[in-house]
Amino acid sequence: MKQIILDEIKKYGGKISFAKYMELCLYHETFGYYTKEQEKIGKSGDYVTSSVLSSIFAEMIAEYYVYLVIEHHIQPAFCEIGAGNGAFFKEFKEWLKKISEEIYEKSMFIAIEKSPHHQLQFKKATQYSVQVKRELPNKFSGMIFSNEWLDALPVHVVTRKEGQLFEVFITSQEEQLKEVLIPLENQRIEKIIENYQTPILEGHRIELSLKMLDELYRVNLAVDHGILMTIDYGYEHRDLYDSSLKDGSLRGYKNHQMITNLLDEPFSHDITSHILIDLYKKKARTFRVE
Ligand SMILES: C[S@@+](CC[C@H](N)C(=O)[O-])C[C@H]1O[C@@H](n2cnc3c(N)ncnc32)[C@H](O)[C@@H]1O
Repeated sequence: MKQIILDEIKKYGGKISFAKYMELCLYHETFGYYTKEQEKIGKSGDYVTSSVLSSIFAEMIAEYYVYLVIEHHIQPAFCEIGAGNGAFFKEFKEWLKKISEEIYEKSMFIAIEKSPHHQLQFKKATQYSVQVKRELPNKFSGMIFSNEWLDALPVHVVTRKEGQLFEVFITSQEEQLKEVLIPLENQRIEKIIENYQTPILEGHRIELSLKMLDELYRVNLAVDHGILMTIDYGYEHRDLYDSSLKDGSLRGYKNHQMITNLLDEPFSHDITSHILIDLYKKKARTFRVE
């Protein structure tokens, strides 16, 4: 399967960005980690999330949703993006019914999930009672929720050496994948670093997800009126001065073990990174979403 990556590297003139590599590993239409039929979340999978750990998580969110509908008069509609195997949504609906049967009955439920495997698991878990879509429908009004969605989006990797910014690309040498540093020339990344004053210290690496900003933009376009609640791992800018985070946060998980060499066995494990929370918040505020 490594051949798919090698072919892409060849196609793009000898190197691909880490973001492209991560996109292929996770979402390749046939071999992507999230495309393949195999357990990912939970005890028999590779990692756990709050959605599968305790039903208190769903109870808390259901309470907050009811509060928003009653006190802030948002439309009774709940949408989860990156909904995974449906563990959260199943519990959420059960709790909502207990907390307010009236709001439960009035509510529209939607899940947005990209992985065909998770779509199927989701439908089974929620007994086909929730619409599962690939995209947020236009003019959505209500509450939009996600848990550990953004940390599964592809990231570009940037580092500073002798004062200069470089982007980490993936290349091949004798059929083996390896990293190569190329002076940063992606203007979108340059602009973000400049506009948002993202600190990148000498020798440090950071991950930056253009995809996250694109997704936020799409959410903003689709939403008519609503509240966006995002739960995820992330850094604030001040954390980037911490030398313990020098190597960034990229990692993989397989059978609940952390994987640090992400080039050895592409497609075989999850890849995740912490998001830049400050960037996400600032960008969200320039859109209409709060
Ligand atoms: C780390 S899992 C988290 C799943 C779930 N929210 C949970 O808490 O267990 C991330 C999920 O986001 C999905 N995903 C990634 N990009 C997506 C996108 N653009 N639209 C919808 N789902 C997406 C993946 O397929 C995967 O199921």
